[in-house]
Amino acid sequence: MQVQSIRSLQIGQKMFSQYLLAIGLVVTGSIVAAGPCDIYSSDGTPCVAAHSTTRALYSNYSGNLYQVKRASDGTTKGITSLSAGDVANSTYQDTFCEGTTCTITIIYDQSGKGNHLTPAPPGSAGKGPAAGGYDNPSSATAAPVYLGGKKAYGVYIASRMGYRNNAASGTAKGDSAQGMYAILDGTHYNGGCCFDYGNAETSSGDTGAGHMEAIYFGNCNVWGIGAGRGPWIMADLENGLFSGEGAKLNSANPSINHRFVTAVVKGKAGTWAIRGADATAGSLLTFYNGSRPSGYNPMKKEGAIILGIGGDNSHGAVGTFYEGVMTSGYPSDAAENSVQENVVAANYTTSYGIVER
Ligand SMILES: *[C@@H]1O[C@H](CO)[C@@H](O)[C@H](O)[C@H]1NC(C)=O
Ligand SMILES: *[C@@H]1O[C@H](CO)[C@@H](O)[C@H](O)[C@H]1NC(C)=O
Ligand SMILES: *[C@@H]1O[C@H](CO)[C@@H](O)[C@H](O)[C@H]1NC(C)=O
Ligand SMILES: *[C@@H]1O[C@H](CO)[C@@H](O)[C@H](O)[C@H]1NC(C)=O
Repeated sequence: MQVQSIRSLQIGQKMFSQYLLAIGLVVTGSIVAAGPCDIYSSDGTPCVAAHSTTRALYSNYSGNLYQVKRASDGTTKGITSLSAGDVANSTYQDTFCEGTTCTITIIYDQSGKGNHLTPAPPGSAGKGPAAGGYDNPSSATAAPVYLGGKKAYGVYIASRMGYRNNAASGTAKGDSAQGMYAILDGTHYNGGCCFDYGNAETSSGDTGAGHMEAIYFGNCNVWGIGAGRGPWIMADLENGLFSGEGAKLNSANPSINHRFVTAVVKGKAGTWAIRGADATAGSLLTFYNGSRPSGYNPMKKEGAIILGIGGDNSHGAVGTFYEGVMTSGYPSDAAENSVQENVVAANYTTSYGIVER
C-alpha cells in the first residue's frame, strides 16, 4: 500500500494514516506492516476471531497458525509464521509431513479469544446429508499458494469437510454488530450447501431465520442469486442465502471468480452489506448495502463459528479458504478498504512469480 493512498483514508475526523504512524505501523517508503486485525483494531472494531493458515493477521502475532496431523504416526505439530506478522513457515509442515500425508486438525484463532476451529461435529438436524459423524479435516497440502513469493497452504474443503467452534467467545450475538472478510479461491466452488465462513448456531442445528450471519461463496441458486451464472458472494442468514435484500435476484451482485477473491459481509441492527474484490488488485466494490430481508430483522445471531459448512452442518459444498476474520462492531467502509489494500500487498499468487487473475 502506498503511504500516499492511506493518507486519503479518513475515518470520521481521524486520519487513519496518522493513527497507524502514531502506533508505528507504517514503514516509511511503501509498505504498511499493519495486519488486517491491526487495521480493524484501530477502527474500533477489533477481530474476535482471526483464522489463517497462510499468514499472521496481526503484525505482532507469532503463535501457531494451525496444527497438522500426520498419517504415519498420528502425531501433531503446530505451524507458526516465519516471524511475527509474517507468512506461515511451510517448511515446518513440509519437513514434518515428508513421506506421509497430513491433515489440518486445528486452525488457531489469532485474536486471543481462543476461538479455534476444529473438524465440525455432526449436525443436530439428524437427517439427510447433515447427519452422520464429525466432518473430515482438510488435506494440509491440497491448496498450495505463495504470498510475496513465500510458500504457504490454504484450507481445501471438499465435500464432507468443515470446521466449527460452538463455544466461541466475543462473537456477535442477537442483533449486535459484526464484520467479516475472507480470502477464498474464486475458481473452487459448487452449488451445494454451503461453503460458509462466519457466525452460526451453537447447536449445529437449524434454529431458524436470522440465527446465522456468515459469508457464503459459490453458485448455489436455491435461494438468492446474483447476476450471471455465479459464483457469488452472498450471506447465509439461515434458511436462505441472500445476495441482497430480496429473496432472489440482486443483479448488482456480480459473478466473481478471480483466482483470489476478497469476500466481505457485515451486519448491524437493521442494516447489512456485501462487498467483494479481486484479492490481488483493485478496490472493494459494494454489492449490497441496506435493509435486512423480511423476516430477518432483528437478527438472532448465536455466535458459533463455521468454516466450509452450513449452520446445520450441511457439508455438500466445496471451496478453499486462505484467511478470514470476524470483528466485534460494524467496521467502517474505510477500514475494509484498507484491509483490501493489505491483502493486495500480501501478494497472493499460485506459483512463484506468477500473478494469476
Ligand atoms: C497486538 O496487536 C493488537 C492489535 O493491534 C493489540 O490489540 C494487542 O494488544 C497486541 N498484543 C501485544 C502482545 O502487544
Ligand atoms: C522454518 O522451519 C524450518 C524447518 O523446521 C526451520 O529449519 C527454519 O528455521 C524455520 N524458519 C524460521 C524463520 O523459523
Ligand atoms: C509478488 O510475488 C512474486 C513472487 O511470487 C514476485 O515475483 C512479485 O514481484 C510480487 N509482486 C509484488 C507487487 O510485490
Ligand atoms: C452504505 O450505506 C450507508 C448508509 O446509507 C452509507 O453511509 C455508506 O457510505 C454506504 N457504504 C457503501 C460502501 O456504499
